[in-house]
Amino acid sequence: MKELFDTQVLIPTNENIEYAAKLLCEGETIGMPTETVYGLAANAFDENAVEKIFIAKGRPQDNPLIVHIDSLEMLKELVTEITPTALALAKKFWPGPLTMIFEKSDRIPLSVTAGLSSVAIRFPSNKVAQRLITACGLPLAAPSANISGSPNPTSANHVYTDMDGKIPAILDGGLCEVGLESTVVLLKGESLVLLRPGYVTIDMLKEVVPNVTIADGVLNELDEDAQVLSPGMKHKHYSPKADVCILDGDFEQFKNYVCKASKDKDVKIGAMVFNGEEEFLDVPCVTFGEAGDNIIQAKMLFSSLRALDELKVDKIFARMPDQDGVGLAIYNRLIRAAGFSILKL
Ligand code: TXA
Ligand code: MG
Repeated sequence: MKELFDTQVLIPTNENIEYAAKLLCEGETIGMPTETVYGLAANAFDENAVEKIFIAKGRPQDNPLIVHIDSLEMLKELVTEITPTALALAKKFWPGPLTMIFEKSDRIPLSVTAGLSSVAIRFPSNKVAQRLITACGLPLAAPSANISGSPNPTSANHVYTDMDGKIPAILDGGLCEVGLESTVVLLKGESLVLLRPGYVTIDMLKEVVPNVTIADGVLNELDEDAQVLSPGMKHKHYSPKADVCILDGDFEQFKNYVCKASKDKDVKIGAMVFNGEEEFLDVPCVTFGEAGDNIIQAKMLFSSLRALDELKVDKIFARMPDQDGVGLAIYNRLIRAAGFSILKL
């Protein structure tokens, strides 16, 4: 694609936030830090601005965006109804990494929701994101700021790598605290359907809504023609250039398997392992945090997935994460990076 901009990376001074807000009000799209991953933001009321997000990311037109707000006041004009359950969830988890699906009001254009009558909304806790939304006085539509299909950006540098020349500016808020995209939920009467696991875990949600179910497609591969509750589930995600396969077993089994596989000189093997395990392997490795510490693993996952491309290997074997708490979100992202390839050892 032709370079449209000389992309600036800006530290979040008041002056730079005012400048970024001015760009957004003029219909541009910019890189915005949030506590989860960086977003590619545009005025959610402006169809042309929203269109620029889809172009910059190469995002499929049928994948709706999340709208970011800075208050419950702002929420009211975007949705038709805020149920007591939604309000209870908002009080407990906002500002923070939870996205809720609402029936949209007429103020939200269909280009934001990919034609759906519902809209995904979240109130980020990141202070730069909050200051930016407040400075614009507008809700900001923002998907993750990566090229569609590549790993999520957790630093301004990752955004720059993917978006250089395509957007005028990126606000640099440092490394994202959480590192994985928000938990997405759909409210159905008195129950909740988990559409995407994240830092807000099922146990945390159950403290507000006891009945939580996991949508089909969160932990399994869907058929091509399956009906999904969330369009993003169908799309290919976060794939490194090499083939990834998750090995389900303990480290001893993992080590033996990788050792055997690396004897085939025609296929260059790499590994994605927990800290310290690389010392016991004779293949290029990327680490993704301490075994058993899923908060750190979440924070490192996407930069580790990006680093896998630098190993210049054909096949990557990855360790199996635990599926408890935030681990469920790590597992959900990793099985997608692996194209659902899991081998039980
Ligand atoms: O943490 C996050 O959520 C980050 C930051 C930037 O806020 N954003 C993010 O956006 O991850 P994105 O576009 O990469 O993922 C949005 C997800 C997609 O899976 C999409 O299908 C789902 O939210 N979604 C959006 N609107 C929806 C709707 N109306 N109904 C069901 N799912 C929806
Ligand atoms: Mg995304």
